[in-house]
Amino acid sequence: MPASSSNAVADNPQAAALGHKLFFDTRLSANNQVACATCHRPDLMFSDGFPVSFGTRATKRNAQTLIGSAYSPWLLWDGHKDSLWAQALEPIEHPDEQGSTRLHAAHLIHQDETYRALYQAVFGSLPAELADFSRFPDSGGPVEHGGYRANWESMTPADQATVTQIYVNLGKAIAAYERLILPGPSRFDTYVRAVLEGNVEMMENTLLVDEVAGLRLFIGKGNCIRCHSGPLFTDNNFHNIGVSMAQNLPPDDGRATGGQRVLADEFNCLSHYSDAKETECTPLNSVKAGDSEAVYAFRPPTLRNVAETAPYMHAGQIETLRQALERYNQAPPAPMGQTEVQAT
Ligand code: HEC
Ligand code: HEC
Repeated sequence: MPASSSNAVADNPQAAALGHKLFFDTRLSANNQVACATCHRPDLMFSDGFPVSFGTRATKRNAQTLIGSAYSPWLLWDGHKDSLWAQALEPIEHPDEQGSTRLHAAHLIHQDETYRALYQAVFGSLPAELADFSRFPDSGGPVEHGGYRANWESMTPADQATVTQIYVNLGKAIAAYERLILPGPSRFDTYVRAVLEGNVEMMENTLLVDEVAGLRLFIGKGNCIRCHSGPLFTDNNFHNIGVSMAQNLPPDDGRATGGQRVLADEFNCLSHYSDAKETECTPLNSVKAGDSEAVYAFRPPTLRNVAETAPYMHAGQIETLRQALERYNQAPPAPMGQTEVQAT
């Protein structure tokens, strides 16, 4: 696994056990109906099968698989988060996703015996004052939905910091669990091993003739590996491939805004809540503001298990793999910025 220097409990099994429970718990949402797993279903390779996801209301993007996400320095289509733990703190307080707040999450951990025990084993004791609802209202956070901000602003800065620290710890526990969501071995991996060992018989027994022809195109004339490189088939960078914009959604300029958001993020690698030293935040330090190549650029998703994660692209604009490939062949101009794809 790549190191996760901003998360001191990234490889702690008890933290992962806590994160695992949280991932499937609908009580983290305002309406008690939405868990992380609602939109990241294990039976759909941790995606949800919809063009865009639905939580407490409709979101504006497609839920990508979480398989191998731990290997990326950037999360989300536009990389507006730079760690799994910082990412995990967004859906809980997002009005479209779980619509809840950090104070609600802190109370859940404090009140549920199993959670309290798991939490305290990893992060030390929870403050007993959490039981005082006049100091710690049942829900609140620096959010714009549900009227929760007023509750938050009624608290002292010190109490707010206590709650945010608990919330951050929950994100770090969820991240420890997500690091365990890894791709299983595939026929492709067996084929690569056969090639490396020069084992022709194993090569012939592993992939069909058509599949080998597709692989040739993928690494040859199609030049898919320019962006879908390495064991996860992604370079984890940002590219504009000129996908049509989604109907009925506001314009989404991808990395152009995503880069600014991660620099300003309350939970980024350089923030007070990060366990990393400044020198360990190289990806964040390299973000350039106002980079024109960032316009409409998105992170290529892993192509592991891609047959099972339709529909495709950042807003599910493309229904099938065949349509995705037709799009690459046509290479139309991008709706915003410049496409990097050329027709062959
Ligand atoms: C309402 C549906 C919904 C819920 C609930 C939800 N997600 Fe997501 N998730 C999405 C969507 C949509 C995206 C892509 C959003 C974007 O790129 O802006 C996403 C992206 C992600 C990614 C980025 C993966 C990558 O490789 O970049 C991670 C990690 C993730 N979610 C984890 C979680 C966790 C942890 C929770 C619970 C705390 C959660 N999600 C709750 C819909 C959801
Ligand atoms: C210039 C970089 C680049 C090249 C070259 C490229 N891709 Fe992509 N690919 C991307 C990006 C970026 C996305 C996501 C774009 C978006 O959502 O707007 C993507 C998305 C995809 C998806 C959808 C995945 C999903 O889960 O939504 C598939 C399938 C895909 N690419 C296959 C290919 C194939 C096959 C080739 C070669 C013919 C190829 N790509 C060449 C960058 C590239």
